[in-house]
Amino acid sequence: MHVNIYQGLLLLSKILQISAEQCTSGTFRINPDKRNVKLRGFAYRTFENISPRACFQKCIRRTRCHSYNYNRASLRCELNNLKPMYVSEDDLQNESGYVYVEVHHYRGDPHFDPCVGNPCNDGEVCESLKNEKVVCILDDCKTPDEEIQNVALGKMCKQSSTYRNDHAGLAVDGLTNTSHHTEQDQAPYWWVDLGQIYNIMRIEVINRFHAAYRLHDLDIAVGIHLDDMSIFAHYTGPAAGNEHLVFQRSRYTDGRYIKLTITKGPEMLHVSEVNVMAYPVC
Ligand SMILES: *[C@@H]1O[C@H](CO)[C@@H](O)[C@H](O)[C@H]1NC(C)=O
Ligand SMILES: *[C@@H]1O[C@H](CO)[C@@H](O)[C@H](O)[C@H]1NC(C)=O
Repeated sequence: MHVNIYQGLLLLSKILQISAEQCTSGTFRINPDKRNVKLRGFAYRTFENISPRACFQKCIRRTRCHSYNYNRASLRCELNNLKPMYVSEDDLQNESGYVYVEVHHYRGDPHFDPCVGNPCNDGEVCESLKNEKVVCILDDCKTPDEEIQNVALGKMCKQSSTYRNDHAGLAVDGLTNTSHHTEQDQAPYWWVDLGQIYNIMRIEVINRFHAAYRLHDLDIAVGIHLDDMSIFAHYTGPAAGNEHLVFQRSRYTDGRYIKLTITKGPEMLHVSEVNVMAYPVC
Protein backbone atom coordinates (compact mmCIF):
# COMPACT_ATOMS: atom_id res chain seq x y z
CA MET A 1 0.00 0.00 0.00
CA HIS A 2 1.25 3.42 -0.91
CA VAL A 3 1.09 5.97 1.93
CA ASN A 4 1.95 9.55 1.06
CA ILE A 5 3.59 11.96 3.50
CA TYR A 6 0.35 13.69 4.38
CA GLN A 7 -1.41 10.41 5.26
CA GLY A 8 1.65 9.34 7.20
CA LEU A 9 1.59 12.50 9.29
CA LEU A 10 -2.11 12.11 9.88
CA LEU A 11 -1.56 8.56 11.10
CA LEU A 12 1.32 9.67 13.30
CA SER A 13 -0.73 12.47 14.84
CA LYS A 14 -3.53 10.01 15.63
CA ILE A 15 -1.10 7.67 17.36
CA LEU A 16 0.32 10.58 19.37
CA GLN A 17 -3.18 11.69 20.28
CA ILE A 18 -4.09 8.23 21.57
CA SER A 19 -0.94 7.94 23.67
CA ALA A 20 -1.50 11.45 25.06
CA GLU A 21 -5.00 10.45 26.13
CA GLN A 22 -3.68 7.30 27.78
CA CYS A 23 -1.19 9.44 29.67
CA THR A 24 -3.70 11.93 30.97
CA SER A 25 -6.08 9.20 32.11
CA GLY A 26 -3.28 7.85 34.28
CA THR A 27 -2.42 11.16 35.96
CA PHE A 28 -3.97 12.64 39.05
CA ARG A 29 -5.51 15.92 37.98
CA ILE A 30 -7.71 18.15 40.06
CA ASN A 31 -9.49 21.04 38.37
CA PRO A 32 -10.13 23.87 40.80
CA ASP A 33 -13.74 25.07 40.97
CA LYS A 34 -12.43 28.62 41.26
CA ARG A 35 -9.05 30.25 40.87
CA ASN A 36 -7.69 33.22 42.82
CA VAL A 37 -10.51 32.76 45.27
CA LYS A 38 -10.85 31.27 48.73
CA LEU A 39 -13.81 30.36 50.89
CA ARG A 40 -13.67 32.66 53.87
CA GLY A 41 -14.55 31.71 57.44
CA PHE A 42 -15.14 27.98 57.23
CA ALA A 43 -11.62 26.59 57.49
CA TYR A 44 -11.60 24.22 60.46
CA ARG A 45 -8.12 22.88 59.92
CA THR A 46 -5.05 24.17 58.13
CA PHE A 47 -1.88 22.46 57.06
CA GLU A 48 1.32 24.23 56.08
CA ASN A 49 3.97 23.01 53.66
CA ILE A 50 2.03 20.30 51.89
CA SER A 51 1.63 19.50 48.22
CA PRO A 52 -1.61 20.10 46.26
CA ARG A 53 -2.16 16.37 46.14
CA ALA A 54 -1.63 15.98 49.89
CA CYS A 55 -4.13 18.77 50.52
CA PHE A 56 -6.70 17.02 48.33
CA GLN A 57 -6.04 13.79 50.27
CA LYS A 58 -6.47 15.56 53.63
CA CYS A 59 -9.89 16.70 52.50
CA ILE A 60 -11.29 13.65 50.73
CA ARG A 61 -10.35 11.39 53.65
CA ARG A 62 -12.54 13.44 55.97
CA THR A 63 -16.29 13.19 55.70
CA ARG A 64 -16.50 16.59 57.39
CA CYS A 65 -14.41 18.28 54.71
CA HIS A 66 -16.45 19.63 51.81
CA SER A 67 -13.92 21.85 50.09
CA TYR A 68 -10.49 23.31 50.52
CA ASN A 69 -8.48 26.42 49.75
CA TYR A 70 -4.96 25.81 48.55
CA ASN A 71 -2.21 28.33 47.99
CA ARG A 72 0.45 27.11 45.60
CA ALA A 73 2.99 29.76 46.59
CA SER A 74 2.87 29.25 50.35
CA LEU A 75 1.82 25.54 50.16
CA ARG A 76 -0.96 26.34 52.60
CA CYS A 77 -3.97 24.03 52.77
CA GLU A 78 -7.23 25.01 54.48
CA LEU A 79 -10.01 22.46 54.90
CA ASN A 80 -13.55 23.88 54.86
CA ASN A 81 -16.58 22.27 56.41
CA LEU A 82 -19.32 24.28 54.68
CA LYS A 83 -21.41 22.28 52.20
CA PRO A 84 -21.12 23.78 48.68
CA MET A 85 -24.93 24.14 48.50
CA TYR A 86 -24.70 26.77 51.25
CA VAL A 87 -21.80 28.70 49.72
CA SER A 88 -22.75 32.16 48.49
CA GLU A 89 -20.70 34.71 46.54
CA ASP A 90 -20.24 36.68 49.77
CA ASP A 91 -18.37 33.75 51.30
CA LEU A 92 -15.83 33.71 48.49
CA GLN A 93 -13.03 36.19 48.69
CA ASN A 94 -10.64 37.22 45.92
CA GLU A 95 -7.21 36.16 46.96
CA SER A 96 -4.51 35.81 44.39
CA GLY A 97 -2.62 32.51 44.41
CA TYR A 98 -5.43 30.51 45.99
CA VAL A 99 -7.57 27.85 44.36
CA TYR A 100 -10.89 26.71 45.74
CA VAL A 101 -11.77 23.04 45.23
CA GLU A 102 -14.99 21.22 46.13
CA VAL A 103 -14.43 17.52 46.74
CA HIS A 104 -17.89 16.01 46.19
CA HIS A 105 -17.15 15.64 42.44
CA TYR A 106 -14.43 13.15 43.36
CA ARG A 107 -16.09 11.12 46.10
CA GLY A 108 -16.84 7.56 45.01
CA ASP A 109 -14.37 7.61 42.13
CA PRO A 110 -11.71 5.00 42.97
CA HIS A 111 -9.10 6.97 41.05
CA PHE A 112 -9.40 9.84 43.53
CA ASP A 113 -11.23 8.53 46.56
CA PRO A 114 -9.31 6.20 48.90
CA CYS A 115 -12.51 5.37 50.80
CA VAL A 116 -14.94 4.08 48.17
CA GLY A 117 -17.44 1.65 49.66
CA ASN A 118 -16.09 2.30 53.13
CA PRO A 119 -17.74 5.53 54.15
CA CYS A 120 -16.48 6.76 57.48
CA ASN A 121 -18.71 8.74 59.81
CA ASP A 122 -18.65 12.47 60.10
CA GLY A 123 -15.77 13.29 62.40
CA GLU A 124 -13.63 10.39 61.24
CA VAL A 125 -10.57 10.19 59.02
CA CYS A 126 -10.29 7.39 56.52
CA GLU A 127 -6.82 5.89 56.27
CA SER A 128 -5.84 3.25 53.74
CA LEU A 129 -3.42 0.49 54.58
CA LYS A 130 -0.93 -1.02 52.14
CA ASN A 131 -3.12 -4.12 51.68
CA GLU A 132 -5.87 -1.83 50.31
CA LYS A 133 -7.94 -2.14 53.45
CA VAL A 134 -9.39 1.03 54.88
CA VAL A 135 -9.78 2.04 58.52
CA CYS A 136 -11.78 4.89 60.01
CA ILE A 137 -10.07 6.78 62.79
CA LEU A 138 -11.70 9.26 65.11
CA ASP A 139 -10.92 12.80 64.06
CA ASP A 140 -11.41 14.30 67.47
CA CYS A 141 -9.05 17.21 67.59
CA LYS A 142 -10.58 19.98 69.62
CA THR A 143 -8.32 22.98 69.19
CA PRO A 144 -7.20 23.20 65.57
CA ASP A 145 -4.25 25.51 66.01
CA GLU A 146 -2.53 23.78 68.88
CA GLU A 147 1.21 24.10 69.33
CA ILE A 148 3.58 21.32 68.42
CA GLN A 149 3.96 19.07 71.46
CA ASN A 150 5.48 15.81 72.65
CA VAL A 151 2.60 13.42 72.04
CA ALA A 152 4.45 10.27 73.15
CA LEU A 153 4.51 11.20 76.84
CA GLY A 154 2.84 8.48 78.91
CA LYS A 155 1.49 6.62 75.89
CA MET A 156 1.27 2.82 75.56
CA CYS A 157 4.52 1.11 74.50
CA LYS A 158 5.92 -2.36 73.95
CA GLN A 159 9.37 -3.78 73.37
CA SER A 160 10.72 -7.04 71.96
CA SER A 161 11.73 -8.28 75.45
CA THR A 162 12.40 -6.75 78.86
CA TYR A 163 15.68 -6.80 80.75
CA ARG A 164 15.06 -6.86 84.52
CA ASN A 165 12.36 -4.28 85.31
CA ASP A 166 13.26 -1.78 82.64
CA HIS A 167 9.89 -1.82 80.90
CA ALA A 168 9.03 -0.06 77.65
CA GLY A 169 7.17 2.80 79.37
CA LEU A 170 10.40 4.17 80.84
CA ALA A 171 11.18 5.70 77.42
CA VAL A 172 8.09 7.92 77.60
CA ASP A 173 7.98 8.82 81.30
CA GLY A 174 9.39 12.32 80.81
CA LEU A 175 12.54 11.44 82.77
CA THR A 176 15.98 11.18 81.20
CA ASN A 177 17.45 9.38 84.20
CA THR A 178 15.42 6.22 83.48
CA SER A 179 15.55 4.00 80.42
CA HIS A 180 13.74 1.05 78.92
CA HIS A 181 15.90 -1.98 78.18
CA THR A 182 15.46 -5.07 76.03
CA GLU A 183 17.30 -8.35 76.30
CA GLN A 184 19.94 -9.18 73.74
CA ASP A 185 17.75 -9.80 70.67
CA GLN A 186 18.52 -10.37 67.02
CA ALA A 187 16.55 -7.25 66.04
CA PRO A 188 15.46 -5.61 69.29
CA TYR A 189 12.59 -3.18 68.94
CA TRP A 190 10.48 -0.73 70.91
CA TRP A 191 7.27 0.96 69.80
CA VAL A 192 4.76 3.47 71.07
CA ASP A 193 1.07 3.82 70.20
CA LEU A 194 0.17 7.52 70.22
CA GLY A 195 -3.53 6.60 70.49
CA GLN A 196 -4.54 8.55 67.40
CA ILE A 197 -3.00 9.80 64.20
CA TYR A 198 -0.80 12.85 64.49
CA ASN A 199 1.11 14.95 61.99
CA ILE A 200 4.60 14.08 63.07
CA MET A 201 7.24 16.73 62.52
CA ARG A 202 10.19 15.57 64.59
CA ILE A 203 11.32 12.55 66.58
CA GLU A 204 13.94 12.93 69.30
CA VAL A 205 15.82 10.06 70.88
CA ILE A 206 17.81 10.67 74.05
CA ASN A 207 20.42 8.00 74.55
CA ARG A 208 21.26 6.36 77.83
CA PHE A 209 24.55 7.22 79.53
CA HIS A 210 25.78 3.69 80.24
CA ALA A 211 26.72 1.41 77.32
CA ALA A 212 25.70 4.19 74.97
CA TYR A 213 27.51 2.54 72.02
CA ARG A 214 24.72 -0.05 71.76
CA LEU A 215 22.58 2.52 69.97
CA HIS A 216 23.52 1.95 66.33
CA ASP A 217 21.96 0.84 63.03
CA LEU A 218 18.62 2.15 64.19
CA ASP A 219 15.54 2.26 61.99
CA ILE A 220 12.87 4.71 63.06
CA ALA A 221 9.60 3.79 61.38
CA VAL A 222 6.26 5.60 61.45
CA GLY A 223 2.86 4.33 60.40
CA ILE A 224 -0.85 4.47 61.01
CA HIS A 225 -0.79 0.74 61.79
CA LEU A 226 1.96 -1.59 63.04
CA ASP A 227 1.54 -3.63 59.84
CA ASP A 228 1.98 -0.58 57.67
CA MET A 229 5.12 1.26 58.70
CA SER A 230 7.59 3.23 56.63
CA ILE A 231 11.04 4.48 57.49
CA PHE A 232 11.09 8.00 58.91
CA ALA A 233 14.85 8.03 59.57
CA HIS A 234 17.83 5.75 59.81
CA TYR A 235 20.68 6.30 62.23
CA THR A 236 23.96 4.45 61.78
CA GLY A 237 25.66 5.62 64.96
CA PRO A 238 26.98 4.59 67.36
CA ALA A 239 25.66 7.30 69.67
CA ALA A 240 27.47 8.88 72.59
CA GLY A 241 26.35 8.83 76.21
CA ASN A 242 23.24 11.01 76.79
CA GLU A 243 23.36 12.08 73.17
CA HIS A 244 20.23 13.89 72.06
CA LEU A 245 19.42 12.74 68.52
CA VAL A 246 16.96 14.77 66.48
CA PHE A 247 15.27 13.42 63.36
CA GLN A 248 13.36 16.09 61.50
CA ARG A 249 11.27 16.27 58.39
CA SER A 250 10.20 19.42 56.61
CA ARG A 251 6.80 17.92 55.78
CA TYR A 252 4.16 16.23 57.82
CA THR A 253 4.17 12.50 58.26
CA ASP A 254 0.87 11.07 59.45
CA GLY A 255 1.40 8.41 62.06
CA ARG A 256 0.05 6.69 65.12
CA TYR A 257 2.85 4.20 65.82
CA ILE A 258 6.57 4.94 66.13
CA LYS A 259 8.89 1.97 66.10
CA LEU A 260 12.62 1.84 66.85
CA THR A 261 14.50 -1.26 65.67
CA ILE A 262 18.18 -2.12 65.77
CA THR A 263 18.65 -3.85 62.46
CA LYS A 264 22.11 -5.28 63.07
CA GLY A 265 21.87 -7.51 66.12
CA PRO A 266 22.30 -9.33 68.32
CA GLU A 267 22.06 -6.22 70.47
CA MET A 268 20.23 -4.64 73.39
CA LEU A 269 18.07 -1.61 72.76
CA HIS A 270 17.82 0.94 75.54
CA VAL A 271 17.21 4.67 75.39
CA SER A 272 16.28 7.19 78.06
CA GLU A 273 13.52 8.97 76.23
CA VAL A 274 11.70 9.17 72.92
CA ASN A 275 9.94 12.46 72.17
CA VAL A 276 7.52 12.60 69.27
CA MET A 277 6.88 16.22 68.34
CA ALA A 278 3.62 16.53 66.47
CA TYR A 279 0.40 18.38 65.75
CA PRO A 280 -2.98 16.76 66.21
CA VAL A 281 -4.79 15.77 63.02
CA CYS A 282 -8.29 17.13 62.80
C1 LIG B 1 -13.10 39.66 42.45
O1 LIG B 1 -12.54 39.55 41.18
C2 LIG B 1 -13.50 39.57 40.14
C3 LIG B 1 -12.79 39.29 38.82
O2 LIG B 1 -11.51 39.85 38.79
C4 LIG B 1 -14.21 40.92 40.14
O3 LIG B 1 -15.19 40.96 39.11
C5 LIG B 1 -14.89 41.12 41.48
O4 LIG B 1 -15.47 42.38 41.57
C6 LIG B 1 -13.89 40.95 42.61
N1 LIG B 1 -14.59 40.96 43.87
C7 LIG B 1 -14.17 41.64 44.93
C8 LIG B 1 -15.01 41.54 46.17
O5 LIG B 1 -13.16 42.33 44.92
C1 LIG C 1 15.20 11.05 88.25
O1 LIG C 1 15.00 12.44 88.23
C2 LIG C 1 13.85 12.84 88.94
C3 LIG C 1 13.63 14.33 88.70
O2 LIG C 1 14.82 15.03 88.56
C4 LIG C 1 14.03 12.50 90.42
O3 LIG C 1 12.89 12.89 91.15
C5 LIG C 1 14.22 10.99 90.53
O4 LIG C 1 14.50 10.63 91.88
C6 LIG C 1 15.35 10.50 89.65
N1 LIG C 1 15.34 9.05 89.61
C7 LIG C 1 16.44 8.31 89.66
C8 LIG C 1 16.23 6.81 89.55
O5 LIG C 1 17.54 8.78 89.79
